[in-house]
Amino acid sequence: MVKAVVLGAAGGIGQPLSLLLKTNPSVTELGLYDIVNTPGVAADLSHISTPAKVVGYLPPDDGLAKTLQGADIVVIPAGVPRKPGLTRDDLFKINAGIVRDLATGIAKTAPKAFVLVISNPVNSTVPIVAEIFKQHGVFEPKRLFGVTTLDVVRASTFVAEVLGDLGKAPSISVPVVGGHSGVTIVPLLSQSSAALPSGFAQGDLEKLTNRIQYGGDEVVKAKDGAGSATLSMAYAGAEFASKVIRAIKGEKGIVAPTFVHLASDPAGGEALKKEIGKELEYFSAPVELGPEGVASIKPLGKLTDYEKTLVEAALPELATNVEKGVTFISASKL
Ligand SMILES: NC(=O)c1ccc[n+]([C@@H]2O[C@H](COP(=O)([O-])OP(=O)(O)OC[C@H]3O[C@@H](n4cnc5c(N)ncnc54)[C@H](O)[C@@H]3O)[C@@H](O)[C@H]2O)c1
Repeated sequence: MVKAVVLGAAGGIGQPLSLLLKTNPSVTELGLYDIVNTPGVAADLSHISTPAKVVGYLPPDDGLAKTLQGADIVVIPAGVPRKPGLTRDDLFKINAGIVRDLATGIAKTAPKAFVLVISNPVNSTVPIVAEIFKQHGVFEPKRLFGVTTLDVVRASTFVAEVLGDLGKAPSISVPVVGGHSGVTIVPLLSQSSAALPSGFAQGDLEKLTNRIQYGGDEVVKAKDGAGSATLSMAYAGAEFASKVIRAIKGEKGIVAPTFVHLASDPAGGEALKKEIGKELEYFSAPVELGPEGVASIKPLGKLTDYEKTLVEAALPELATNVEKGVTFISASKL
């Protein structure tokens, strides 16, 4: 029995993500929460002939607690996407407040659930959830994940495009590490399961890296004011959720990059800090998933000189983003 909950379920990501979770045969109950429209989304999805029983709640009458009751896995795509006219700082404040309040609800009603954070900026919203859980005495780093899967999905697709064969996209895996915004996104293309063409020039490698780092901008531009990546994000979120669910159910050997607190695997976390040469609390690394959540944090492995420069460039920004999340919560307490 697996109860999956989506917080922000009526949104651009939330609706297709809820659809994909409804079609996951391992999900037996699906709880949908949003400040608008969840009864309608739940009624619609409930007609699909798959096992999950669907419930949808709005804020009145303790809707958040009712949705979270008995949750095994909670996915959070609630928030505001990038829009013209909204500064980064406005966006941060809105999303940080939303994630803080939802994390408080999870800490109270479903403190043992696995929490998958999609709301941006992930490099800050994951620390926000952790700080709230610490305040409630329920923080277990093994169960908290920042969803960076869209970067991994884009890397597979873009490499397949370079190879001229989209048919290869589903089987190509490229570790993408660091964090989940711009320069903090570090694709390790030298470790791609499908090698780039021999003679792929450094300039082309830099362009491909940049495309993975700023893939979101392509979508924002193409949508022309109507939002950011929603469908590809829903696919990526459902993929990662499905991996977590398979691991909870006992499947071994599932490894996926995700943004985690390095105390989730103290030995692996320490080894990773030595590898990157910096005392960081959070990093997106390849993580082996298990029944408790994070089973182990894997090393980054051999990096090219170019990849080392990308990691170096990511570290200061990553530290600032994490600090921003932690400070937001300590300031909220005052
Ligand atoms: N991790 C990633 O790779 C990634 C990719 C794309 C977008 N995102 C982020 O995902 C978030 C959602 O994007 P979207 O395009 O779906 O936006 P959207 O505006 O279409 O949907 C967001 C939903 O959140 C709901 N919401 C707002 N406040 C809420 C609250 N307090 N409680 C519950 N629900 C609430 C809204 O009602 C809306 O339905 C944004 O923060 C966006 O930046 C992350």
